[in-house]
Amino acid sequence: MPIVLGIESSCDETAAALVDGDRRVLAQRIASQDDHHAPYGGVVPEIAARAHAERLAPLVQAVLDDAGKELADCDAIAATAGPGLIGGVMVGLVTAKALAMASDVPLLAINHLEGHALSPRLADAKLDFPYALLLVSGGHCQILRVGGVGQYTRLATTIDDALGEAYDKTAKILGLGFPGGPAVEKLAREGDPHAVPLPRPLKGSAEPHFSFAGLKSAVMRAHQSGEHAAADIAASFQQAAVDCLIDRMTRALDTMEPVTALVVAGGVAANATVRGALEGLAEKNGLDFVAPPLALCTDNAAMIAWAGIERLPLGEFAPLDVSARPRWPL
Ligand code: KG4
Ligand code: ZN
Repeated sequence: MPIVLGIESSCDETAAALVDGDRRVLAQRIASQDDHHAPYGGVVPEIAARAHAERLAPLVQAVLDDAGKELADCDAIAATAGPGLIGGVMVGLVTAKALAMASDVPLLAINHLEGHALSPRLADAKLDFPYALLLVSGGHCQILRVGGVGQYTRLATTIDDALGEAYDKTAKILGLGFPGGPAVEKLAREGDPHAVPLPRPLKGSAEPHFSFAGLKSAVMRAHQSGEHAAADIAASFQQAAVDCLIDRMTRALDTMEPVTALVVAGGVAANATVRGALEGLAEKNGLDFVAPPLALCTDNAAMIAWAGIERLPLGEFAPLDVSARPRWPL
């Protein structure tokens, strides 16, 4: 039974996990940096990198101790090598290189987006390729057809902001603090989703791409007008965002080669309204719906370790001079 150590440090979560080939998470730890970044209303790359540098090595040690394992028990060390904030990615990748060198365990350089894309298979043994994936996080908003490990066809991306970013900015406008997604979701429950007229950018356009910058500006104007309660703005924003997701995903499914399931992953997949709407869309299209448990949706190392487990049979280990990549499309 293979075991892979996963390391994640591409944004503001420092994380390590041990996962085996039977989909068992033997141990995992995540150190969130929310407190570090909250005063700035967003992630500050330099602060993130320093925090990763302080925390990662003890975190790896703790995960090994939790599972009663040693590095030598691992079949590979899988680290996020991009895309992401480059300082943080470098901390994780260089740590993984050192561990690999010291223990003679091979290194896997994992694309963070592949971690999100394959994470639903860690949670659900029955999820088979090919599936349609909506990847919605703080940095990305994409629709992919996942044909197999390493076989990703991108059908759509955002032409400006990612949806998580729009959630975070809406939270900032409404004074809800950071991180914004969960706060906006909570406030939206108390509001009327049809109270504030907001745009649905790109709705109905032929290409299934996303755009959220105009929606964010409209939220700002609605707030500045002083005519609307914050809860109504939050609820109306969320309704507009979900309408866009469903419209764009419907368009993508129309143009995509057949799939068996509709899958959502990434931080925004933790949102109950987003999940509910996508589940309805899957049902309408006769597709299974899979959404990973919340802890697997936001950044974590179990998904990186799992991507490593999926990649092990390919034998594509990384050389010790492999580069960290700030940009790395799937
Ligand atoms: O995947 P993730 O942890 O990091 C990236 O790779 O970007 O996603 C973080 C993003 C943030 O923008 C956060 O506000 C958003 O996911 N998010 C949510 C919720 N939980 C996290 N957005 C909406 N509703 C939520 N419940
Ligand atoms: Zn992520």
